[in-house]
Amino acid sequence: MMRFDILTLFPKMFSSPFDEGILKRAQKKGLIDIGIHNIRDFALDKHHTTDDYPYGGGQGMVMKAEPIIRSIEKVKSPKNDSKVILMTPQGRRLDQGCTIRMSKLRHLIIVCGRYEGVDERVRKYVDDEISIGDYIISGGELAAMVLVDAVSRMIPGVLGNSESIDDESFCNFLLEYPQYTRPREHKGLNVPEELLSGNHQRINNWRHFQSLKRTLERRPDLLEETELSSKDIRILSEIKEELDISKKC
Ligand SMILES: C[S@@+](CC[C@H](N)C(=O)[O-])C[C@H]1O[C@@H](n2cnc3c(N)ncnc32)[C@H](O)[C@@H]1O
Repeated sequence: MMRFDILTLFPKMFSSPFDEGILKRAQKKGLIDIGIHNIRDFALDKHHTTDDYPYGGGQGMVMKAEPIIRSIEKVKSPKNDSKVILMTPQGRRLDQGCTIRMSKLRHLIIVCGRYEGVDERVRKYVDDEISIGDYIISGGELAAMVLVDAVSRMIPGVLGNSESIDDESFCNFLLEYPQYTRPREHKGLNVPEELLSGNHQRINNWRHFQSLKRTLERRPDLLEETELSSKDIRILSEIKEELDISKKC
């Protein structure tokens, strides 16, 4: 069982996304457990203030350190197995390798920033900083949802048998092959013949070829990160040749 504790100023944002589909089922099965905590409850003054003006001037507000640090300390596990993550565009970019590593942990505490971000001193209480991409969103809540979803999918048993991760994009550094469902024909667009053949070897070969082709066309950087078999190298050079020819035509 993996436990997530999310520290936020907007707890209501989490109710619907965590109460649907795979994440709902994972909680029901006891594979993950999610706690949502309002940072405001940990403010020290009678007005429950959680933000203040930045020292040195400038625009916007900064989240105060004390309420966040108090909330981290409240939810930390006495077993010393908690990892505190700050959601921030300044963190290292989330990728599949990172979600796999995190899925092996027992307890993640996720701090969601707002406004101009958090008082720098919060970072002393944080083990890792994660960004969901090189763009700015209004708060860490949506980023935390992305993290919880992506990590949970990697926990054994969370996905059903029919939801295999083996072929999913980024597994083995390849993008997934094209997918089709019924009908066989839609306004002149047909399902590739290989997928209708009933021949598993032929289907697997087609899918692997398409994965290589799609990755080469869209994310060639991924191919540099993996050790390719000599067969794959040959297939890729054939695809490259084919693409070069079609560009010339
Ligand atoms: C408007 S942003 C603050 C951005 C900050 N002023 C900066 O320039 O780095 C407010 C909060 O949203 C969250 N956030 C925004 N973009 C994010 C991203 N790409 N990844 C993760 N969290 C993000 C962080 O928690 C951040 O503290």
